[in-house]
Amino acid sequence: MKHLTDIEHLSKEEILEIIDLAKKFKANSAQSEVGGKTVALMFYENSTRTRCSFEIAAKKLGANVINFEAKSSSLSKGESLKDTIENLYYLGVDAVVIRHSLAGIVENTRAQVKYPISFINAGDGSHAHPSQALLDFYTMLEKTGSVEGKKVVIVGDIKHSRVARSNIALLSKFGADIHLCSPEYLAFENTECFKATVHRDLKTAIKDADIVMLLRVQNERLEYEVFPDSFEYKRLYEVDSKLLKEYASPNVILMHPGPANRNIEVSSELLDNKIGRTILEQAQNGVFVRMAILNKLLKEGSEAHYAS
Ligand code: CP
Repeated sequence: MKHLTDIEHLSKEEILEIIDLAKKFKANSAQSEVGGKTVALMFYENSTRTRCSFEIAAKKLGANVINFEAKSSSLSKGESLKDTIENLYYLGVDAVVIRHSLAGIVENTRAQVKYPISFINAGDGSHAHPSQALLDFYTMLEKTGSVEGKKVVIVGDIKHSRVARSNIALLSKFGADIHLCSPEYLAFENTECFKATVHRDLKTAIKDADIVMLLRVQNERLEYEVFPDSFEYKRLYEVDSKLLKEYASPNVILMHPGPANRNIEVSSELLDNKIGRTILEQAQNGVFVRMAILNKLLKEGSEAHYAS
């Protein structure tokens, strides 16, 4: 495993290895094997959780971190991402963590770069967010032990969600009972390539749910002409304590990748009550999962800098 660009490329065994190592990092019972390696964080889209947790994870492993500023880099003079990354490799960078609004750019650039630098996809457009799915899976296992047969309901802007795509890919491998709930204009156009039950009605969707994962409406990717007002969305799709209590399983786990829009997809009171704390635990687990990812990739990845 040299790269993490998509969950689809990982076997169940590789996923479980990452989860196991993350558990050890959380319990303080694993040592970094990648001290002194160098990681460049290349974020072309805004981020709080992913960027900070990759930086904290790299630093906890004793790796060096470069916060690559896209706006002030030579990309603004027309240099391609491929050329930039090849130069970073020759400067001594072992891995690049990339977030970008273009779906597929991480995998496409990886295929063009000639040198053994590791690529990590930190979210590319609506395509994939593999480290998010891994930390979500870690949190689900920590809370429930197994996802096999569990009813996992993903609610919200599924159409534009890289988190939904990566979670579906991962949860399908482990036998979860996947349900998707959204208005038609925020649903996947094609659901034939995976097994999931599609809902429009929120109450039906969350009935007896073991895990409810909420998604933000991604205003930055919306075609405005098809989106009705937020009040209508809130009326039909906002999840609050009363709704969860009435319809979901008594031990339901509430998740959200963040950032959450209070009082749109989730009520403020639910976010601030005990059940909402899992969302912060997801963010915390992200540090340990990203330590495991970086340790695994940097150990198994680039070895020969200054290749001729
Ligand atoms: N979940 C997630 O990707 O959050 P950020 O956009 O803050 O990184």
